Amino acid sequence: ELGVDCLWLSPMYPSPLRDDGYDISDYYNIHPDYGTLDDFKKLIAEAKKRDIRIITDLVMNHTSDLHPWFQEARKSKDSPKRDWYVWSDTDDLYTETRIIFLDTEPSNWTYDEVAGQYFWHRFYRTQPDLNWDNPEVIEEFKNIARFWLDLGLDGFRADAVPYLIERDHTSNENLPETHEILKDFRAFMDEEFPGTILLGEANMWPWDLRPYFADGDEFQMCFHFPVMPRLFMAVKKGEVSDVIDIMERTPDIPANCQWCTFLRNHDELTLEMVTEEERQWMWEQYAPEDRMRLNLGIRRRMAPLLDNDRRKLELLNVVLFSLPGSPILYYGDEIGMGDNIWLFDRNGVRTPMQWKNAPNAGFSEAEETYAPAIDDDAFGYARVNVENALADEHSLWYWTKHLIAMRKEHPALSRGSYEFVQTDNPAVLAILRKCENETILALANFSNKAQVARVALPEYAAHEKVELFSQIPHGCKDETHRTLLEPYEYQWLLMRD
Ligand code: NOJ
Repeated sequence: ELGVDCLWLSPMYPSPLRDDGYDISDYYNIHPDYGTLDDFKKLIAEAKKRDIRIITDLVMNHTSDLHPWFQEARKSKDSPKRDWYVWSDTDDLYTETRIIFLDTEPSNWTYDEVAGQYFWHRFYRTQPDLNWDNPEVIEEFKNIARFWLDLGLDGFRADAVPYLIERDHTSNENLPETHEILKDFRAFMDEEFPGTILLGEANMWPWDLRPYFADGDEFQMCFHFPVMPRLFMAVKKGEVSDVIDIMERTPDIPANCQWCTFLRNHDELTLEMVTEEERQWMWEQYAPEDRMRLNLGIRRRMAPLLDNDRRKLELLNVVLFSLPGSPILYYGDEIGMGDNIWLFDRNGVRTPMQWKNAPNAGFSEAEETYAPAIDDDAFGYARVNVENALADEHSLWYWTKHLIAMRKEHPALSRGSYEFVQTDNPAVLAILRKCENETILALANFSNKAQVARVALPEYAAHEKVELFSQIPHGCKDETHRTLLEPYEYQWLLMRD
């Protein structure tokens, strides 16, 4: 009903859940807590009836240490699975590789008593990295993909792809050999399952992300990680230059590719793609308590980050929908769910969906859920829930539904070209989206004060303009589009010929 047309499911496979399912112990099944394969088939069928596609996470870089492959591999050097993982007699190989889970892992190597060797892992020590130099691993993953795509899945969000291949004296990230493997995987999907999609998760700078699109023959989509923290920076500073700067340093991508943009997801709000100084500033601003910080990020949800201020929530969502790319929403953010910083790791942003004011927030009839539903005064399920949101026509949920519908109605916002237009006001972002039949000027005031902005667009001076949210004509006929914007106000101006 919200208008979402694709679901991305985080890992639903059997797993000991040491990394909430990103540690898979069987790639060909569903975790029994979530249901059965038949339930999953039913989910796909029901989604298709509603024109909703489904992609799932495909964790390629590593498995759980409890996966039978690893159990087999550690047994002996002669084990047929030994070479499926990355081993060493010492832990002084690949010293130029950074550690990602800084808060918990002192090294990317862990000694395994049973194996008598160290194994390589870029994430938790319970997630040994697979050896993608081994053709058997490549073949196995094609079989895994066949299994799920045969069921009618529409594609994968490929997890942690920069780290597939290791080479000494490199950072072990984004290596050419890794790109070769991904291209081959894409070619296989195109050939056997045309129309399915590969979305790459590579938390990298735009220029390092660009090769993942290759000539339109690697990933169709990649997350745009670096723009996300800059949107939060901009709203706190009341100043938009960081957003413009990173987008202007984002290379063009092939016509058959697209960015995926987002404000929040199931992980910490990552601050990997900012400078050390900016990271400190973001932590001070958004994570004043130690418990709010995790690794290089902030483990909080969107609504609490934005002071539960409806103006800021709308502003950042409108900007997300005005930037190039397919916007991704994180479950619960459409009703303004909160977080629980007292839970382990990133679980505080993964609490049960708040459907109604009922036990477990209506999420489950089980006695106990994997994490308790949020029940604090401001964000608790008694107040913040879908049932209440649907009963209130002014709710964030209805507003989000409207936003999604408008984006679908106006192809300039989804498929159009984009350019940042200069304004005379550093607090105001102006993005021009254009396609064959329409032009839309998005204006957004990131300041907590009213602002006047002039936007130099002489070619549109004579056009009639209508603001799409309010449907009110924009009176100004001069060449500078002088506009008054209230604190955090945004506009979508449709230029009529
Ligand atoms: C990225 C996922 O988003 C994150 O949740 C996970 O911990 C790592 N990859 C490792 O799989």
